[in-house]
Amino acid sequence: MSNSVKKIINVVGARPNFMKVAPIFALMKQSTEIDPILLHTGQHYDDAMSKAFFIDLNMPEPDIYLKVGSGSHAKQTARIMARFEDVVENERPDMVLLVGDVNSTIACSLVAAKMNVSIIHVEAGLRSLDWSMPEEINRIVTDSLSDILFTTCKSANANLIKEGIPEEKIHFVGNVMIDTLLQHKKKAEESSILNKLGLDNKDYAAITLHRPSNVDNRDNLAAIFKALKELSKHIGIVFPIHLRTVENIKKYGLSDEMRSLKNLITTAPMGYLDFLKLVSNSKFVLTDSGGLQEETTVLGVPCLTLRVNTERPITALEGTNTLVGNNTETIINESLKILNEEAKGGRVPTFWDGKAAERIVNILEK
Ligand code: UD1
Repeated sequence: MSNSVKKIINVVGARPNFMKVAPIFALMKQSTEIDPILLHTGQHYDDAMSKAFFIDLNMPEPDIYLKVGSGSHAKQTARIMARFEDVVENERPDMVLLVGDVNSTIACSLVAAKMNVSIIHVEAGLRSLDWSMPEEINRIVTDSLSDILFTTCKSANANLIKEGIPEEKIHFVGNVMIDTLLQHKKKAEESSILNKLGLDNKDYAAITLHRPSNVDNRDNLAAIFKALKELSKHIGIVFPIHLRTVENIKKYGLSDEMRSLKNLITTAPMGYLDFLKLVSNSKFVLTDSGGLQEETTVLGVPCLTLRVNTERPITALEGTNTLVGNNTETIINESLKILNEEAKGGRVPTFWDGKAAERIVNILEK
């Protein structure tokens, strides 16, 4: 390989990273200008949280696997840093590409910055302005250390400029997660998940919960369950449960409460294709996920976000998203509006068109 070929380590760690890196890595592999390496920190390691996505997204096995596993924020971040430092030492990459806002993102950005390796941050500039979210800290630190910042919307550019990031470092390229969604939508329709669960199109709502603000607090989780109890009198609800949430439902003694909801189907976390089929065909979605706010906007499925803020305001301004917090009454009222066919409409934001990875790789090749 010639000297001008850039060696880039692409980092994935947690579930929402896989669908963001998949289309970028695939295009880098075809590039004669880039020598890409795929590194998995192992922040998520269960088959359902990790391997299932590699299979569904047809991603190659990671070249490097750090096996860091779970832990407190400091322990997990520190483990990733120590192991990633050795990798950077051995591989001497020109650049490190990081996505999103998870602990793997901040850990690798700190290491790369101190070892003078250029940092590319994909999905830069999103801000919830809520410092109680670990992701907000991860985003701000990573952006402040990055050399090339790729954004999903114009308001992210404005956030970065306000923080003093030079404009020439920032590139508005669109949303790579939507590249993956558009690439897999047809295949996902072949999934048999609705048959397996005995569901008909638009005859159910889907819910996901994993944010500490909802699931690490018994009162908040109980308030959401209370809303689900009322809602389940009107529509079936499907709840693929995140592992963090499974543990807390048990810990807070809410298992019986959950089981008592007759119209609620609980499942293990789903793979990418099954979940895409589930969401695409749902009447509406209740969630505290960041990515799902964006996916529902593109699918045109109404989304009620169980948070008081969002780092993705474009999904509420232009898309199908409505913020409802975790107040029982608000969740019920907004859900009933959708069941009464009063859901708000929406449009697909600029550049959420399936070509974001292409724009990113074109810029990196230059
Ligand atoms: C992480 C991200 C969050 C992202 C989410 C998607 C951070 C700070 N948070 O949250 O931004 O939206 O991933 O899922 O990086 N666990 C397992 N097996 C696994 C993974 C997790 O059992 O494969 C359990 C463990 O008990 C672990 C807990 O889930 O302690 C939380 O996992 P962790 O990666 O710390 O955070 P998430 O809540 O998944």
